[in-house]
Amino acid sequence: MTAFHVRRPALALLALGTGIAALAPAIAADAPPVPHKVAFDRYSMTLDGKPLYVWSGSFHYWRLPSPDLWRDVLQKMKAAGFNAVEVYFHWGYHSPKRGVYDFTGIRDVDRLLDMARDAGIYVIARPGPYINAETDAGGFPNWLVATAGKPRSPSPDYTAAYREWMTQINRIIARHQVTDGRGTVLLYQVENEFYDDSPDGQRYLQDLEDEARADGITVPLFGNHNENFFEGLGALDLPGFDSYPLDFDCTRPARWNAVYDFSHEREKLTRWPLFFPEYQGGAFDVWGGPGYEACRKLTGPEFERVFYEATMASGSTMQNFYMTYGGINWGWLSSPGVYTSYDYGAALTASRQLTSKYDQQKLLGYLTQTVAPLARTDARAATAAENPRVRVTRRVNPNDGTQFYFLRHADASDTTSDATHLTLAQAAGKPLVVPQQPGTAIRLDGRDAKVLLADYALGAQRLAYSTSELLTHVRQDDRDVAVFYGRQGEDGETVLRFDAEPAVKVVAGQVASHWDAGTHTLRLNYRHDGLARVAITPKAGGALFVLLADNDAAVRFWRLDTAAGPLLLRGPHLARTAALSGGAVALAGDTDAATDLEVFAPRGTQAVTWNGLPVATTATPSGSLEGHLDGPAPVTLPALDTWRVHDAAPEIAPGFDDRAWQATDRTSTPNPYWNKALPILDSDDYGFHHGNVWYRGHFTATGKETGIRLSASLGVHLGNHGIFTAWLNGHFLGNNPSGSQQFPIDPAWLKKGADNVIAVLVDNHGHLQEEKNGAFREPRGLLSAVFAGATTAIHWRIQGNRGGEDLPDAARGPFNAGGLYGERMGWQMPAFADAAWATATLPRHTAQPGVEWYRTDFTLDLPKDQDVPIALRIHDDAPHRYRAVIFINGWQLGRYISDVGPQTDFELPPGLLNPNGKNTIAIAAWSTAQDGGLGQVSLVMQGNYRTSLRVAPVTAPVK
Ligand code: GAL
Repeated sequence: MTAFHVRRPALALLALGTGIAALAPAIAADAPPVPHKVAFDRYSMTLDGKPLYVWSGSFHYWRLPSPDLWRDVLQKMKAAGFNAVEVYFHWGYHSPKRGVYDFTGIRDVDRLLDMARDAGIYVIARPGPYINAETDAGGFPNWLVATAGKPRSPSPDYTAAYREWMTQINRIIARHQVTDGRGTVLLYQVENEFYDDSPDGQRYLQDLEDEARADGITVPLFGNHNENFFEGLGALDLPGFDSYPLDFDCTRPARWNAVYDFSHEREKLTRWPLFFPEYQGGAFDVWGGPGYEACRKLTGPEFERVFYEATMASGSTMQNFYMTYGGINWGWLSSPGVYTSYDYGAALTASRQLTSKYDQQKLLGYLTQTVAPLARTDARAATAAENPRVRVTRRVNPNDGTQFYFLRHADASDTTSDATHLTLAQAAGKPLVVPQQPGTAIRLDGRDAKVLLADYALGAQRLAYSTSELLTHVRQDDRDVAVFYGRQGEDGETVLRFDAEPAVKVVAGQVASHWDAGTHTLRLNYRHDGLARVAITPKAGGALFVLLADNDAAVRFWRLDTAAGPLLLRGPHLARTAALSGGAVALAGDTDAATDLEVFAPRGTQAVTWNGLPVATTATPSGSLEGHLDGPAPVTLPALDTWRVHDAAPEIAPGFDDRAWQATDRTSTPNPYWNKALPILDSDDYGFHHGNVWYRGHFTATGKETGIRLSASLGVHLGNHGIFTAWLNGHFLGNNPSGSQQFPIDPAWLKKGADNVIAVLVDNHGHLQEEKNGAFREPRGLLSAVFAGATTAIHWRIQGNRGGEDLPDAARGPFNAGGLYGERMGWQMPAFADAAWATATLPRHTAQPGVEWYRTDFTLDLPKDQDVPIALRIHDDAPHRYRAVIFINGWQLGRYISDVGPQTDFELPPGLLNPNGKNTIAIAAWSTAQDGGLGQVSLVMQGNYRTSLRVAPVTAPVK
């Protein structure tokens, strides 16, 4: 189906398309601010003059409405070697009404930025005002719909509107900048993928830049505007390129496009590093799509290795992956086209779990943060690989001569297994063909890529080269501990230089060593298989401990930087934080099963604690400490056997009292998009921007009405999955998505000369992103209603979410509420008394179109030190025609369309879910035809971890 095959012209183009500022230790909240100088040159950013390799991931706090889980995501990112997080700030999420802004609770971005500081991770701030991001109106607030000014331009209307937002968000961001040492905000993005370089476009961008500076932003301003705004009015400090080389079609996850070589762009950037504010980290999926596991497969570890290493090979030192944690389009946050989950097939799932993509990110992330010379390299010619299927790219650090060899298949999508030798350039002497060990080779097995190092100062030692990849190395006292890795079963060769032959002891595994007195090199040969260990004692003093891992063993290592130096850990599922003092190591992290814990720490370290509890350890021949960690206790979830049910669309009945509803009597609107007939029916004009909206039209029948043509606009993008259902005097007329349909009227339904009522329930699928021409202003709801056979006038009334823009529940905010009867009555709330409702069991099938609400309670008592991601699952044996809105404890966490899909499992984040007490589920099920109802509903455990993470309940009204 073509709808899934999203091609975005602006992106398609790109689809073609010493001493480092090391791993930042966490900054203590009470530490005095230390200002830093943030700059850049043509190689990289610099922090206080030191090159910084920016390895960053995107995360949207507004897609995870439980602040303690922000810390979880930030710690998981930091643990994988990300030194930065890129954050969109969402104007509409904070502003339900003109002049009203909320930065408290789940919107407390000060708290988010403090958490980033505490986690020791830089922030790349992207406050818009426009953000795109597959969110409603691309992040514009919905009250902006009812303004006339051209969006993303210097029009006075629009300028006055965005200034409200920018001044507020800028002031918050300004409190957290690296430049004055109060936080970790490193960069600030102006607008988003803005390509209008007309005089107006330039003026607009310049205005935003001036505003940012006036509001106290002192970090560099950048754009993701590709080749625009390099100079002239509106020029940015730092340009950036967005690239989604595999685009967004997850239906064929094995399909790859070519690797676009950015070295051309690299050469054009004479003053700037090559920066990718968005490089593909996954893909969004669409209603009716294949589901996020397909997207994760499309953009899996092989993709990460091949494509991310290709960006490094082109000389980029700044990469952000969109997304690293995608999250949840809870409430009505999504733009038309995308569904509740915004998992994105990212490295971290929507339920915050680590995937094999996370593991691969970590392998590369650790390299970028360990090997300082990688932040400053020039392209240099490489001798072609012996095997022509293999492509070699070489880069060299001009200051210290460290060489980087990037290997991949010439045709990136090649799946053959190829062996080759590699010719290394040598500063002195003739080129060296490696591996030297006869009968061995470097292998590229299918869609694989490798970054190999040569002439590298590895701590106090000297690496000649390795055909294994370097994960990381740490210096503890006078010992360097290094971890190299390769694919299971492949050969590796690591060669080190020493003045004289060192003592070599193989502590574990099969490693052959060979001293070459002529070249003063020690050669280690081995096969990557589990974990081998070699202790090397140079004559000149000091020590080197080499760990040779296969990929699976490598990803069990964690590097944690503390104020007292780096630690290396092996074993647990996740290592979040470490502190080192007075011979004691305090570690915090997660286990998914019982595991060994090995700690490489400075000499004299004796005591180890894990999540606050002592761990009994013994000293190992590797010079490490070894202990044991428990896994999580098993957990069982309650069954959801009994439900309460209530009929929930009294609006259908002709006698329903709608006198308190707003009359749709407006005859003018500032919205230039309303070019339809009067009266204006656009729900946005009446302050109802999200979710379901009811219309009731009264008319005095002449008896000649033979049909009615109803037209609606509900949000068409990447498929048409909005819907409306209509009734006449309680008789079902039918349903239709966005569009127009004439429904026949049975004359027997009409009450001639009396009041008749058409009731229409619409499902607003969100506002379009602002691609161009004010598209986000496209009307929502009914457009027109015209009788056949008569010209009878209809007087409409409208009702959406309670209060419209004046939210009765500001804690959950503008996107949580729609206009269903039950929502207006508070049936989603935990304290609502449903004892008078009928009991029901699920699944339940209905033959009457309409709305029913279902409620049930359940109690959890999960161990306090466990993180158990739980989802609510709806299962239908066969598709039925109904759509459900799912609430947990008053939070709208899912929209399910039985006959569209694909999502069946809806994350219930801790903090909203109470892991130690009562929880209430409420589901509004709207049967849009005669075969509706509600399927089987159950709780599913997505994972189970013993953890240091603690999650406070998010406070919000209960009734
Ligand atoms: C980019 C845009 C992002 C997001 C992404 C696709 O073009 O800047 O906000 O929409 O595409 O997920």
